[in-house]
Amino acid sequence: MVSVGSAVPDINVSNQQLSQLVDTSDEWITARTGIKNRKILGTNQSLVDLAVKAAENTLSKSSIKPEEIDLIILATSSADDLFGSAGQIQKRIGASNAAAFDVTAACSGFIVSLIIAHQFLATRTYNNILIIGADVLSRWVNWLDRNTCILFGDAAGAMLLKSSSPDNLLGFKLKTNGKNNHDLVLPQTSKYKKFTSDLTIVQGGYNYISMNGREVYKFATSEVPKIIQNTLELIDMVLTQVDWLVLHQANKRILKTIADKLGFPNDKLISNLELYGNTSAASLPLVLDEAIQDNKIKTNDIIVLAGFGAGLTWGAVVVRVRCSTKIIIKFHSLENSNNSYSFEVNKTMIF
Ligand code: ACO
Repeated sequence: MVSVGSAVPDINVSNQQLSQLVDTSDEWITARTGIKNRKILGTNQSLVDLAVKAAENTLSKSSIKPEEIDLIILATSSADDLFGSAGQIQKRIGASNAAAFDVTAACSGFIVSLIIAHQFLATRTYNNILIIGADVLSRWVNWLDRNTCILFGDAAGAMLLKSSSPDNLLGFKLKTNGKNNHDLVLPQTSKYKKFTSDLTIVQGGYNYISMNGREVYKFATSEVPKIIQNTLELIDMVLTQVDWLVLHQANKRILKTIADKLGFPNDKLISNLELYGNTSAASLPLVLDEAIQDNKIKTNDIIVLAGFGAGLTWGAVVVRVRCSTKIIIKFHSLENSNNSYSFEVNKTMIF
């Protein structure tokens, strides 16, 4: 069983606002990326705060209690703690029996985590796994670099997975091309500290995101259509059997080019990047959550999910979706008034 949830920060940064920071315009950003707005995390909040919100939103749509979670995987490239932030989330949501670790694979982090989780479920090692994609790249972008600051936004999304029979994760493929790693990096800085004549150490620190936009564009639009075709071939399926293409929300032009190369109808391409920008590891659960809440994705639909980004890494997963609706009935006993009931309807996916 799967439920999906998400959380976004309150602060909006419009293209108009960005044009006051760097030499750009709403017209340029909209035409080249499709992005109109992005959300950024406030100064008093952390990545863990945002990830916990997404995790709690996801849990509220399922009947699984936090202590029943066996494993938490946090996909992030902007952890609060370089040693990993999954443990803090485990504590905050009360998942006292769960093992927890971070996965770093930039914008492919969620797809990578989904595949890792599926391996544990398929081997019956674990029953309930929570995967979270969360990134606050606003903290790692150079806000004076117009090549990158227009692209990214902060968000978190989560998915709760349970093994099912038959397995509705139908197939997957993952790839990496380390040779082109330099096209998109968040590199370490090298500050040398010389203590004695024979002891010099490198003091850790990080620079800003640096990207060769044209190369990343070429990589995404050439490799993602191929991996989608190859994944479908692997499981003897064809694209006409696919109901929705849910791609990492990097850039509208990238998404459209991938769909066009595949000959896939553009109206079956799910997208919300106009409002949020590229939210890295959070983008897939964020856009899935919205599509389910909007009743776009229906039971038995076949979805292809694909992620791509720094590494360079990319991957595709084909799933069959089962949707169900969880109705929560709350009983309110109010002083000086009649007792009352309220209903909450949460849509849930079951793989
Ligand atoms: N506003 C105005 N002009 C700009 C801006 C801007 N924000 N940014 C660049 N330009 C200028 C350039 O300086 C250049 O000017 P010049 O011709 O005088 O040199 C001109 O616009 C064209 O620049 P290009 O880089 O060729 O623009 P392009 O059409 O390639 O669009 C973009 C740039 C949007 C970054 C595109 O290359 C792209 O989408 N690349 C993929 C980026 C991406 O999705 N990255 C995230 C991957 S996921 C992850 O792992 C994090």
